[in-house]
Amino acid sequence: MTETTAPTAAEQARDKRGYHSNLDVPLLEVKDLVKHFPVKSSGLLRRTIGQVQAVDGVTFTVRKGSALGLVGESGCGKTTTGRVVTRLYDPTSGSMMFEGNELATLSSKEMMPYRREIQLIFQDPYSSLNPRHTVGTIVGTPMLVHNTVPKNKMIARVQELLETVGLNPEHYNRYPSEFSGGQRQRIGIARALALNPKLIVADEPVSALDVSIQAQVVNLLQDLQKEFGIAFLFIAHDLAIVRHFCPDIAVMYLGKIVEMGGRDQIYNSPHHPYTQALLSSAPDVKQAAIGGRRERIRLEGDVPSPINPPSGCRFRTRCWKAQEICANEEPPLLQVGGRQVACHFAEPLQVIAAEEGEIAAQVDDDSSDSPRLEVR
Ligand SMILES: Nc1ncnc2c1ncn2[C@@H]1O[C@H](COP(=O)(O)OP(=O)(O)OP(=O)(O)O)[C@@H](O)[C@H]1O
Ligand code: SF4
Ligand SMILES: [Mg+2]
Repeated sequence: MTETTAPTAAEQARDKRGYHSNLDVPLLEVKDLVKHFPVKSSGLLRRTIGQVQAVDGVTFTVRKGSALGLVGESGCGKTTTGRVVTRLYDPTSGSMMFEGNELATLSSKEMMPYRREIQLIFQDPYSSLNPRHTVGTIVGTPMLVHNTVPKNKMIARVQELLETVGLNPEHYNRYPSEFSGGQRQRIGIARALALNPKLIVADEPVSALDVSIQAQVVNLLQDLQKEFGIAFLFIAHDLAIVRHFCPDIAVMYLGKIVEMGGRDQIYNSPHHPYTQALLSSAPDVKQAAIGGRRERIRLEGDVPSPINPPSGCRFRTRCWKAQEICANEEPPLLQVGGRQVACHFAEPLQVIAAEEGEIAAQVDDDSSDSPRLEVR
C-alpha cells in the first residue's frame, strides 16, 4: 500500500469532521468475501446444479478518504464485489467491517444507517435514473427516505447539490431525458452525495460516456473526494483512469484478487503474470510495466467458467509460467516486493525477460494505441 504522508491543512480540517484522508485508517475492511450465485436446472423442480463462483474469497481494505481501484477483465467479479459491499447482494460468506462494524450479517433494517454512509454510482447514466421522475425527486428522495433534510429545505438542498456537481440549479424540475449522458452521470453523482456518504462504490462511472466527457466526470469525482473526504471503491476497465484516481489498486481474475498494492508498485513493477499482461495491453502504462519493452503480452484462450474454475491457480490455463504446482496448490495472497501477490512464481517481468531472453507468452509488436483495457 502507499506510504503515508503528513496531512495538509485541508486534510486536517476534514479530520475534524471525522475523516482521515491520507492517514492509514481503514474505513472498510473486507475479509474472505464470497458471493456464489446458484445455477438452477430447467424444468419444474429447478434444482440447484452448480454455483457461479463470482467472488471467491477476496480480502481488501479501503482507507478513509482514499480510493481503491478494482480492475480486471469482464466477468471477473468486480460489480458483484461492489454490490455485496453495498449490500445490494447478500454475501455468501465473509466479513465486511465498516468503521469497525460488521455489515455482512446485518438485516435490511439494521443496514439502514449504513446505507447513508455507503452509496453507489452506476455505470449506465441512462438506465440508472427513473425517466418519469424529475431531477429534484431523484436527488431528493434519499434525503426524504432517511429524513436528513426538512421538507421545506429540500429544494434548496437539491439545488446546492446540483451546483456542486456542475449542473444548473434551476434545472431541478427537469427530467433525465433533457440531459446529456455526462450531465445524467452528474445527476447520479449528486444523488450519491445527497446523504454525505463516507464511501462511494463507483462501478465503471465513466465507461458509458464519450471519451471527451470522461475526464470531466473523473475530475469532478476527484474534486469531490478532496472536498468532502469521501473514500472510493473505484471499479473500472480503463487502467489509465484507475492509475489517475486510485492510490491503491487490486487486480481481480475469476473471482479472486491476484495482486494488490500501491499504484506505483502495481503499475511500475507488476509481479503477477496476469497484471503484467493487463498492463502490457495499455499503451500509456506498458513502458514501465514491462521494463521498457514495447510488446504486448497476448493471453491465449478464454477466461474459464466461474462455475467450474481451474484447480490450484485459476490463471494457470492462460499463464505462460504455469508448472505442476500451479494445478495442485492454490497460491495464497502473500507479501512480495512491497505488495500482495498470489503466484507461486511472483517476480517482476523484466527479471524473467533478462533471464530467459524472451517472454514465454506470445508477444505482439503491433499493439494498438487504444487506451482501453484489452486482453485477448
Ligand atoms: N445475478 C447473477 N446471477 C448469476 N450470475 C451472476 C449474477 N451477477 C453476476 N453473475 C456472474 O458472476 C460473474 C461476475 O460478474 P460481474 O458482473 O461481477 O463481473 P464484472 O467484473 O463486473 O464484469 P464486467 O467488467 O463485464 O462488468 C460473471 O460470470 C457473471 O455472469
Ligand atoms: S501460480 Fe502458476 S499459473 Fe498461477 S500465475 Fe503464478 S505461475 Fe502462473
Ligand atoms: Mg461490472
